[in-house]
Amino acid sequence: MLLRPHQRTKLDDTNDTDFYAMPRFVTHVDEGFIDQLTQLYRDRLKPNTRIFDMMSSWVSHLPEEIEFSHVEGHGLNEEELARNPQLAHYFVQNLNENPSLPLADEDFDAVLNCVSVQYLQYPDAIFSEIHRILKPGGIAIISFSNRMFYQKAITAWRDGTEASRVELVKSYFQSVPGFSPPEVITRQSSVPNFLQMLGVGGGDPFYAVIAQRLG
Ligand SMILES: C[S@@+](CC[C@H](N)C(=O)[O-])C[C@H]1O[C@@H](n2cnc3c(N)ncnc32)[C@H](O)[C@@H]1O
Repeated sequence: MLLRPHQRTKLDDTNDTDFYAMPRFVTHVDEGFIDQLTQLYRDRLKPNTRIFDMMSSWVSHLPEEIEFSHVEGHGLNEEELARNPQLAHYFVQNLNENPSLPLADEDFDAVLNCVSVQYLQYPDAIFSEIHRILKPGGIAIISFSNRMFYQKAITAWRDGTEASRVELVKSYFQSVPGFSPPEVITRQSSVPNFLQMLGVGGGDPFYAVIAQRLG
């Protein structure tokens, strides 16, 4: 089993739908992180393809100059999703209650998940769904930093280090047969450590774990 039952628990085990009931029109990571993510999307996503932005909000961080044939969104707050200009369509679903995605097999060229994977209590089921909806050769990009709603992150994430969280996301991909070996992109802040300790510069660390659906 990928995670033991206690590793899936959250400090706040009330329904996630209640936690996200009020819209948050904020960005959850800084500009440096978002620029790196948009550049990664620019490098890896192709025009005229079908994208699924899961656990999304009012922003998808997609490069504006690229035209996609369809961007499907998903999240827990309808008001946020309704305001996202990059989504062609969206649906609201609590993945910790129902991990089955209402999406067809092999229908997407890319699945994106930005700064949200830490909230999934059943990542084995979700990553298997990601594999199912991806076309062969399709790509999944899971990005994260070191920030989180602490009380809503699963124990396995909360108790880990930044390095162990990378390994955790890799293990999510590895738990599903038919994904390529995961690739890891890590970009720490370019500001020297001694300046960061003085509170100068710094910025949110950037991590992405990427895999392709084989065959
Ligand atoms: C920190 S926000 C990130 C939103 C967006 N990806 C971004 O980059 O701004 C976390 C998102 O995860 C989603 N989320 C959290 N728990 C969830 C759950 N149990 N089921 C489905 N979505 C969930 C919420 O919709 C929320 O918008």
